[in-house]
Amino acid sequence: MNNVSVVTGATGDMGRVVAAELVARGDTVLLVVRNAERGRRIAAQLGFDRVEVFAADLTSPDDVHHLAGRISARHPELHLLVNNAGAHFRTRDVNDLGVELHVAVNFLAGFLLTERLLGALKAGAPSRVVNVVSDAINDTRQVKLGRAPRPVSLEPFDDLTKVNPDQGFQPFTAYARAKLLTVMNGYALADRLADTGVTVNSVHPGVAATGIVDDMIPSYAKAFRGMMTRGLLPPKEGARAILHVATAPALEGVSGRYFNRFDEARTPPVSHDRGLQQQVRDAAGAYLRRTV
Ligand SMILES: NC(=O)c1ccc[n+]([C@@H]2O[C@H](COP(=O)([O-])OP(=O)(O)OC[C@H]3O[C@@H](n4cnc5c(N)ncnc54)[C@H](OP(=O)(O)O)[C@@H]3O)[C@@H](O)[C@H]2O)c1
Repeated sequence: MNNVSVVTGATGDMGRVVAAELVARGDTVLLVVRNAERGRRIAAQLGFDRVEVFAADLTSPDDVHHLAGRISARHPELHLLVNNAGAHFRTRDVNDLGVELHVAVNFLAGFLLTERLLGALKAGAPSRVVNVVSDAINDTRQVKLGRAPRPVSLEPFDDLTKVNPDQGFQPFTAYARAKLLTVMNGYALADRLADTGVTVNSVHPGVAATGIVDDMIPSYAKAFRGMMTRGLLPPKEGARAILHVATAPALEGVSGRYFNRFDEARTPPVSHDRGLQQQVRDAAGAYLRRTV
């Protein structure tokens, strides 16, 4: 059977590997990219007959809405969605709707794309949604000195514009909080999709030397990049963990889990709060209605 797989962030260091490996296993792969020209260059390498390029700026819910429309119009059946795109910002900024950018890219874009593609994913079942997140949710200390890990927190809220406010803003914590929202939504969505043949899991790929890690290095320390990224996983190794959750036959039917690379792992207690999970889904769902 010809599987149709969607990979966001397909021009990224891990996304490129994920897309290439899916093509190698025989899938038709839809590359979701920010920069169409870079996407076309990757498509040329992978073979235009096996990949299609879809450009979208994932900070924009409207763009995600149009993206999903274009994908589902061409492919009424999908078998895999890898929400791999992610970003880290050194200063606080918001999108046109006032949503802080870590939340917009690392959570809301994947939420909206998944919801809008659910019909196609159900039609293609068994199918999988894989959310690429970060173990920063379990420890927001960038330098792991000192005693205890510091899991990310989440206060009750009724509107996504209230997440990661200006006051006390810390980029890495803001990034982790956006990934926490994705994990929480993943747990709730997996429950909702039980018996549909669509599974939803989150994976931390490991700490790999990629573009996003470069973005986390302050400009004054760029000269030491080589030293700072030595010892990190090569992107291909990070991608291997994503591909495992996306394709391993042993994970057929497995849903609602969080994997730290290849192993199922725990997430902070707050992530299992069902009331808060529903709040997250309700707050994000408002953007679903807004962009219809
Ligand atoms: N590397 C790590 O150590 C690590 C650890 C834990 C989790 N992760 C997660 O792994 C995933 C892949 O990241 P990576 O490490 O491979 O880094 P990367 O090379 O920076 O890839 C990130 C991808 O996301 C895309 N992206 C960012 N903002 C976007 C926007 N507004 N619209 C559309 N696309 C956008 C980027 O597009 P461009 O190519 O145009 O920049 C890029 O393709 C991310 O979700 C990241 O949070 C990484």
